[in-house]
Amino acid sequence: SSPEPLRAALLDWYNVVHDVRGMPWRKRYDPSLGAEERSQRAYEVWVSEIMLQQTQVATVIPYYNRWMEKFPTIEHLADADDETVKALWKGLGYYSRATRLHQGAQIAVKDFGGRLPTNAKEMEAKISGIGRYSAGAICSIAYNECAPVLDGNVHRLMSRLLALHSPPKSKQTLDVLWAGAEAMVKRAEHPGDINQALIELGSTVCKPRDPACSKCPLNKWCQGYRLTKEESMEDAPDI
Ligand code: ADE
Repeated sequence: SSPEPLRAALLDWYNVVHDVRGMPWRKRYDPSLGAEERSQRAYEVWVSEIMLQQTQVATVIPYYNRWMEKFPTIEHLADADDETVKALWKGLGYYSRATRLHQGAQIAVKDFGGRLPTNAKEMEAKISGIGRYSAGAICSIAYNECAPVLDGNVHRLMSRLLALHSPPKSKQTLDVLWAGAEAMVKRAEHPGDINQALIELGSTVCKPRDPACSKCPLNKWCQGYRLTKEESMEDAPDI
């Protein structure tokens, strides 16, 4: 079936909620930006995505703002010393994330003239510390590339949407879920918004426990929801 009605419902929902949590890195894709400005957007999204990997949005916001004040561009970050970088990360935990950002910035300056690669495949291959998820998030949001994302939130949402019961970490399951995430953004006009909408929906509505299915814009396409209604169970399956 065509993904368009589902995407439209998802984007209608995202248009209402996208600014509720006041995330400073969340800006709409602007096609009028030049290469330099897009790379700057990619840097901002990169920093936010790495901070958000193991940390909640509300905690990340002040750290993100301080980071951008201290390291406004990728060159500033590349030039910084380890101590300054560590000090700005203090309290966020998982310090290896800061080290990877720092090293990635140095690679971008040394090998790419301070610009981040403009597509997800190259970004993942060339910038250490950027994996498939981050490359998809950065390139869809900053470059409008139709690259998918699959983080914990999208994994759960997609598993429910497809009513998938296979082991969550198996290669086969991940292949199916990545394919589902890919179908969501394939030839989409606003892949960055689709991806952020999926992440947002996963973290605020399609929660691990007690998902708010009645408020979900995708419930009419959701196999998990359909099954729980048919079986008249109280909750959607915990996946
Ligand atoms: N968590 C990870 N990426 C995110 C994003 N772009 N927006 C909100 N929460 C996120």
